[in-house]
Amino acid sequence: MENARQVLSTCMGKLVFFCMYLPNPATMKYFIWTMKKTIIEAKNIFKSYDEVKAVVGLSFSVESSKCFGFLGPNGAGKTTMMKMLYAKALRDKHHESELSVLGFDPENHELEIKARTGIVPQEDNLDVELDVMQNLLIYARFYHIRKKEAVKRIGELLEFMELGDKKKAPIRALSGGMKRRLLIARALINNPELLILDEPTTGLDPQVRQLIWDKLRLLKQQGVTILLTTHYMEEAFQIADTILIMDKGKKLIEGNPVTLLKENMEPYVLEIIDKKEASKVKGNGKSGVRHEDAGERVLYYSKNVNELKKMAGKLLPGTHHIRESNLEDLFLRTTGRKLNAVQ
Ligand SMILES: Nc1ncnc2c1ncn2[C@@H]1O[C@H](COP(=O)(O)OP(=O)(O)OP(=O)(O)O)[C@@H](O)[C@H]1O
Ligand SMILES: [Mg+2]
Repeated sequence: MENARQVLSTCMGKLVFFCMYLPNPATMKYFIWTMKKTIIEAKNIFKSYDEVKAVVGLSFSVESSKCFGFLGPNGAGKTTMMKMLYAKALRDKHHESELSVLGFDPENHELEIKARTGIVPQEDNLDVELDVMQNLLIYARFYHIRKKEAVKRIGELLEFMELGDKKKAPIRALSGGMKRRLLIARALINNPELLILDEPTTGLDPQVRQLIWDKLRLLKQQGVTILLTTHYMEEAFQIADTILIMDKGKKLIEGNPVTLLKENMEPYVLEIIDKKEASKVKGNGKSGVRHEDAGERVLYYSKNVNELKKMAGKLLPGTHHIRESNLEDLFLRTTGRKLNAVQ
């Protein structure tokens, strides 16, 4: 009898759950989202600031536990796109636009997204009046984390970012690299599922950059989805599973960095840094050698490294080098401009 009552009660519970929640379209949408593993889905996103078209019809999607990198020259629209993901900027009204972050539209569910996201903005916004610990404690309060728990978590995060001895340091006493690492520690305070990093390593020395890449790789292994913008090709290669190169608000190319290069670029480049010297060699049309002018530099691309070596033999030492092609070369090929050019 007792058993029968229990079975009946469980069935009733499930029925009540079904009736209460499933017909609700928002719940259905969330339920479907949890089944998929897409963390961000952006379709036809536009953003204008008066006459400036910062983002023009951008579409992309980011899978769970992957790193997605935005590349592009200054003013390409990278930061604007990031800001729209957590409602710091609102996208233009456009009938075909759709944006979903962790299953929510940022326009209507800013707090739900922020609760589960960590953000490292392009500009350092640490409070210089406070020390390291105080900066992080204030952040923990935003997430209603109790002080005792916050202190423990902050200690772990500072250790993780190798800032364990800086708890009491005033912000102004930190180097640029330490501040960047502190911003990442701060972004992790709420154990985020999604980490948004706008130029996490700009201006840092190669060692600190390497340390940050190691930490980001670790976080990815732990299941954190990472979205970042960068000007560094190496960064994109080291940690991004997918990159999206954009320019003037539009997508130019998207894909896995290694595959993109393999499919779109000759593997070797003869880079001549002295234009006068470059006039000594002519590679165009010769055994598949392609030529590209990049301001003061002249570049010859080929599958055949020996062909490039033969050409290099005609040049003065110190005026050229042969290297593997990279994303910068791919950008140049697609746009005719340098990736880090100022617009
Ligand atoms: N708040 C704003 N008001 C007006 N214009 C803006 C604003 N924010 C960005 N813009 C403009 O939108 C365009 C895209 O800027 P955005 O900051 O997104 O570029 P970015 O790719 O992040 O560049 P960078 O590599 O220099 O950080 C630029 O032309 C910029 O001047
Ligand atoms: Mg930016």
